Parts: sequence; C-alpha cells; structure tokens
Amino acid sequence: MEDQNRRYLAEGVPLVSVLSNRFKNSQGSQAKTAQSSSWHTDHTNQVLPPNYTSLYPVELPDRGGGTSLCNTRAAYEALPEDLKRKITGMKTVNLLAGSATKNRNPDTLEDQKNYKAPSPIHPLVRTHPVNGSKAVWFHPNKTENIVGMSPEESQEFLRDLTYTHLVKPEFTYVHQWKLGDMLIWDNRSALHKAGFDYDPNQHRMLYRTLVRGDKPF
Ligand SMILES: [Fe+2]
Repeated sequence: MEDQNRRYLAEGVPLVSVLSNRFKNSQGSQAKTAQSSSWHTDHTNQVLPPNYTSLYPVELPDRGGGTSLCNTRAAYEALPEDLKRKITGMKTVNLLAGSATKNRNPDTLEDQKNYKAPSPIHPLVRTHPVNGSKAVWFHPNKTENIVGMSPEESQEFLRDLTYTHLVKPEFTYVHQWKLGDMLIWDNRSALHKAGFDYDPNQHRMLYRTLVRGDKPF
C-alpha cells in the first residue's frame, strides 16, 4: 500500500494498521483511529486508493461500536435521473485533510502541512472496473473541493448527497462485531463509518489491512 498512516501500524507487521480508541493524538485527546465516524471510502488522497478494506477485531466493547456500510452502487442507481446527470462527471480534489472539513485532528492537519504527495483528482461517480457498474464514491474529510465549487460548498453538497440520497435504510448495513468475525468490502462501491455508540472506557481495537487499488475512472 502507498502511504498508510504510519503512526498506527502493528508492531513488526507494517502492512497491518491498528485501529484503537485508546490511541491519543499529540494533544492528548482520542485519536480517531477507531475508524472515521463520518461516511467515507478509504484513502482518496492516494492516486490508487485501496480496492478492498478488511477489519478483524481483537478487542470489543460489550455493545455498540459496529461498522456501518452503505451500498453506493444501489444508492446511485436509485438517484433521481436529473441528480444522476448532475453528479456524473463531477470531480473531487483530494488531500490528506480538506480545509473545510470537520476533521480537526491536529496531527492530520500537521501532516497535511508537510504533505508532498500529489492531490489526486477523482471522479465523484466511479465505474467499477470489473462489472462496469457506477457508484457514488468520496471521502468528505479528504475532499478539498469538487471542481467548480468552493471547499465549503463542496462539503455541504456532499453532506446533503449523503444524508438525503445515500444512507437510506435500504442501502445500509451495520455489522455488530463478534470476536472471530472478519469483514472485507469493496471500497469502489461502498462507503463505511465506525459507530461511537459504546462505552468509551471499554477498549475497541481492530486490525485493518488494505488491498492495493487501481486508478478510479
Ligand atoms: Fe475507513
């Protein structure tokens, strides 16, 4: 994988990241490495974002802390035709941390200042290279802007698209973890998020691996 977050790799196994609610950022508050709490696809700041993400829990809270998935292929197919036409062809400019996002993790913002990698431009509607289906595809915290919109307008547009059209009950699934489970999903046609609806004094820790992707089109 290119450029995982190097702060949180499993010791001796650099292809595996550790997501834990016990990690602190440099300011001493909880580092949001227990997965992002907003709907997103992984690592759109990369030129070749990961095709697949897998999670395997090693410690779980008694209840809550599920991982939610949204089928953005089915959600795209169900969009009103005029909205489909409007968003097809839209492009997102991607950074480590977009300037108008709600992601105020000081470490990520610091990393962004020193970030030398390119800012890839990706399609908002992505075509699956294997089956040709189309899906809505973005990471709001890594989107600086949609080409032709300001960063603030872009955030509002993505938020409205997400909550009005994508994350309807018929397109979403919440996986409530049990030890021994493993989840793997196709990032090219799904968004996901972590639930923070659990006792923060309990430990939630998962191992994450990412599978190298191809260029979105
Ligand atoms: Fe994620």
